[in-house]
Amino acid sequence: MGRKILLEKIGIEGIQRFDVYKHSGGYSAVDKALKAMTPNEVLEEVRKSGLRGRGGAGFPTGMKWSFLDKKSNQPRYLICNADESEPGTFKDRYLMEHIPHLLIEGMICSAFALESNTAYIYIRGEFKYLVGILNKALSEAYANGYLGKNILGTNFSLDIYVHPGAGAYICGEETALIESLEGKRGNPRLKPPFPAFVGLYGCPTVVNNVETLASVAPILNIGGFLYATIGNGKSTGTKLISACGNINKPGVYEIELGISVEDFIYSDEYCGGIKNGKKLKAVVPGGSSVLVLPAHLILKTTNDCPRLMTYESLAEGGFETGTMLGSGGFIVYDEDQCMVRNTMSFSRFYHHESCGQCSPCREGTGWQERILTRIENGEGRAKDIDLLADISKHIEGNTICPLGDAAAWPVASAIKHFRKEFEFHVEHPDIVKNIRHGNILNYKL
Ligand SMILES: Cc1cc2nc3c(=O)[nH]c(=O)nc-3n(C[C@H](O)[C@H](O)[C@H](O)COP(=O)(O)O)c2cc1C
Repeated sequence: MGRKILLEKIGIEGIQRFDVYKHSGGYSAVDKALKAMTPNEVLEEVRKSGLRGRGGAGFPTGMKWSFLDKKSNQPRYLICNADESEPGTFKDRYLMEHIPHLLIEGMICSAFALESNTAYIYIRGEFKYLVGILNKALSEAYANGYLGKNILGTNFSLDIYVHPGAGAYICGEETALIESLEGKRGNPRLKPPFPAFVGLYGCPTVVNNVETLASVAPILNIGGFLYATIGNGKSTGTKLISACGNINKPGVYEIELGISVEDFIYSDEYCGGIKNGKKLKAVVPGGSSVLVLPAHLILKTTNDCPRLMTYESLAEGGFETGTMLGSGGFIVYDEDQCMVRNTMSFSRFYHHESCGQCSPCREGTGWQERILTRIENGEGRAKDIDLLADISKHIEGNTICPLGDAAAWPVASAIKHFRKEFEFHVEHPDIVKNIRHGNILNYKL
């Protein structure tokens, strides 16, 4: 059995309640941090742990915290990004539903390190059921002296508020999130200035993912150095992976970073293999925004090394033969799935979710969706495939926020690795028209 850090206590009856969580050792990290450590010492432990942001980019958390402007005498804010709207990613909601106090405990320790007295949980609008769960957990923490004024009799005070968004994917991007929290339309801001200097209400702000913040209490409990020995190289610790698609056991798994992709897909501890004994065709390992890889490249790198579940191994080969760990939304496709249809479906999502601020993204995502729709419908032209690739190039890197890249990469990588399927659609419109109902590809190339 793989090592469990975040999900260790899941399964304890009533663990969502404060008393059960506390009885199982919960809140010991707050006791330790507030009574025996300075904010800087907490920050140092997190830095030593090598923890990297679990929201997608994998930026080192300790380094991000160290950028926070502590010199200005403005208030400092901590924001937990619970927007989780990336197709294929469903791990943060699992944590918040099953063990909400782990997040709250992590947020208290993090806010202490950042010397912040106000924190927000910005939660995706559709997660209405979680708002109640979080508010209940927060009121228990207040009632037991872990939130509010002078926590545990120390001179550290903290308030945490839950703020539901209105269901826009773009509000997961940290500066759009900040705009939305301020009550404005969720349009990403130009950076610099970065939130560490000019964030919420113009004040220094740190935005971290739910899983990142939930990892902070276990790190303080076991110590940064020990945490850094778990995992592989610069991919330290454990990571939640939400696995879905054509696998026998879809679900949320905690893995030690460094296990092989093959093990993750085929072992009974995790995905349990491909459904109905079919062959693996492709994987999108980090949520819809990352590059899709065909089976031979997701299982092995071009140097014939086993591909590992780490930030580095998945990225090996760059844009040619690599992909990204991203948010850990692991989508598996069997041999019958149509990559054109899948790409069209992703493109529809990005077109719908583009905030419209930057023309390459606003117009480009629409063009991508329209061209992919006509190819999928058997109405595509031969030059459409190169046109699509060209549009992706013009979106990538030319927008204020990375939503543009997120829209471009799935299309570019699908064409790179599955070009024959696009060509088949263009060359055999009659066959394609007859099979357009359902996602099943009943042609073999
Ligand atoms: C379009 C878009 C959507 C995003 N959605 C999320 C999200 O739902 N949750 C999240 O934690 N980060 C999301 N991010 C990344 C955030 O901007 C930010 O990098 C992250 O919250 C930082 O937290 P971390 O350092 O703990 O990973 C998104 C980024 C983009 C460009």
